[in-house]
Amino acid sequence: MAVGIFDSGLGGLTVLDAVAKRLPDVDFVYYADSAHAPYGVRDADNIYDLTTQAVSALWDQGCDLVILACNTASAAALRRMQESWIPSDKRVLGVFVPLIEAMTERDWGDNSPPREVEVKHVALFATPATVSSRAFQRELAFRAIGVDVEAQACGGVVDAIEDGDMILAEALVNSHVDALKRKMPSPQAAILGCTHYPLMEKEFQAALGEGVKVFSQANLVADSLADYLDRHPQMRGTGTGSKFLTTGNPEKVSNRATQFLRRKITFEAA
Ligand code: DGL
Repeated sequence: MAVGIFDSGLGGLTVLDAVAKRLPDVDFVYYADSAHAPYGVRDADNIYDLTTQAVSALWDQGCDLVILACNTASAAALRRMQESWIPSDKRVLGVFVPLIEAMTERDWGDNSPPREVEVKHVALFATPATVSSRAFQRELAFRAIGVDVEAQACGGVVDAIEDGDMILAEALVNSHVDALKRKMPSPQAAILGCTHYPLMEKEFQAALGEGVKVFSQANLVADSLADYLDRHPQMRGTGTGSKFLTTGNPEKVSNRATQFLRRKITFEAA
């Protein structure tokens, strides 16, 4: 009984933490493709190849349901995977939709036509690959009308977080928020469209100002996974026991993860 959680590196731990708190009886296998992070500077074909390899490894661990806790993989690879690659007894879910549903005031799975919503000016912070995929804008346009989205590709932030260089990460957040504000001086809401960014949520909020509502994914994904597993209990998978796997150096990745989650996390080699 295990659900797979995948990210290019440490960012998906923000999602893992929330889902593990929300679903204490479910085991999770976390897979960090640290050897190939960051994904955000790669092209779509390369992201597709890496993501399908990682998801196959999670299926081998008995995880019939895998959450792509990575916006870059969700944006660049998920649709193609769902169209032709995922067998009928497995599921792969992304992390955008719960967030867009929350922002557009919708219940889970409400597919009614797009309508006006309260927020009109939204700042999107994401990796270069996610921004260039326009996947957020597409999902938003299916649900809301009249929302102006300004996207800021936040080059360098994921690298700095993976390296544990939080001073650089903070400086980059400030400079990306400045760049965004030059294009959209008064956003009403901001989307942290990369699962690494909640590790810098205080810095984003401080740079944006208190009046801007910051949406991040972890709790929204946890609610939506709980709802999904209620309706599809057979998708809990056949694996037993939680574990953390990495394609990188397990000791280095464990140290960073322990520092970020403030509890002991031990990664094994994938
Ligand atoms: N956490 C991934 C995301 O949500 C990271 C991206 C990367 O590896 O660049 O997009």
